Parts: sequence; structure tokens; C-alpha cells
Amino acid sequence: MDALALLTGDHNRVRGLFARFKTAKEAENTDEMTTLGAKIFEELEVHTTIEEEIFYPAVRNLDEELEETVDEGVQEHHVVKVLMEEMAALEPGGDDWVAKMTVLIENVEHHAEEEEQEMFPEVRSSTDAKTLEQLASQLEARKAELGAPVMAQAIDLTKEALLDLAREQEIPNRSTMSKEELAATVDAR
Ligand SMILES: [Fe+2]
Ligand SMILES: [Fe+2]
Repeated sequence: MDALALLTGDHNRVRGLFARFKTAKEAENTDEMTTLGAKIFEELEVHTTIEEEIFYPAVRNLDEELEETVDEGVQEHHVVKVLMEEMAALEPGGDDWVAKMTVLIENVEHHAEEEEQEMFPEVRSSTDAKTLEQLASQLEARKAELGAPVMAQAIDLTKEALLDLAREQEIPNRSTMSKEELAATVDAR
């Protein structure tokens, strides 16, 4: 497992939560939206923390392009955090709360796409496999400290069990994932 695969796993787990949120929104299921909203916040708090504490500082100085992409990434995280703070003061499931969540989801989807399509390939070509594996260990350790789902909780499951979880959690592209990728993506807590 390398750092880029670990972070992409986080992205796909959140994409699954977004898909479930959109279904709950269409069904006007306030309880489900509230539950999923809390999970989404928890995931985003951990993910932005590990990127800002560990990943971004480690890759920012690799080249000038990354310096710029990372600085923009930090500001995109900031926008999401402002939305989360504003939402904390609103009634969960209320019209304003749902509108802010919809904008938050659009922002995060765009941000994750940019990381995967611009930042991560640039990181991969500017560093080596060993560094990316060491970074993954640091990210995984910090996630465990923060109480987030980690690969260690899933790696002993069979591929079939992992796929079942991925289906329940609406993880995109699950059918093309390896066992390791599934383990890095599902929430097996
Ligand atoms: Fe990010
Ligand atoms: Fe990310």
C-alpha cells in the first residue's frame, strides 16, 4: 500500500457516503441524512487532518507545480471546513443544512478529482515507491489515533466479505478493485 492508494481509498469511502446521502435526500429521509451527515463530517475531518499534517508538507516542496496545487488544496479544505462549521449551527435535515451539504459535496467531489488527476500523478513522478510506502504508514498510524477506519481492520476479511461491505457502502468502482484496494477503502469497524 502506498500513500496515494490510501488517500484514494479514503476518497472512495466518502464517495460512497455521498451516494447514500443523495439517495436519502431524494427520499426526504431526514434521519438517514442526519446520520450520514455526521459520518461525512467525521471522515472529512480526519482526511483533511492527515493530508495537512503529513501528506501535503511531505510533497509540497517536490516541485513548483506541487507547491501551487498543495496551497490550493489547503484553501479548498478551508472552504469545506467553513461549510461544516456553519452547518453545525443549523438544524440537521433542514432546508439550509441540506443546501449547504449539497454544495459541500460538490466541492469535495471536485477537490478529490483534482487530487487524483493532477496532484497524485505529479507526486508519483516526483518521488519513489519507498517514500510513498513510508508516508502510508505515517498516514495509517495517524488515522488509527484519530479513530478512523484503517486497513488493519479489514485486511483479514475474505475478498467476498470485503466486496459485500463495499456494496453496502456504495463504494464506486468496487468491482475493479484488488483485495488490498478494497481493504484500504471499506469501513470494517
Ligand atoms: Fe485534500
Ligand atoms: Fe484527499
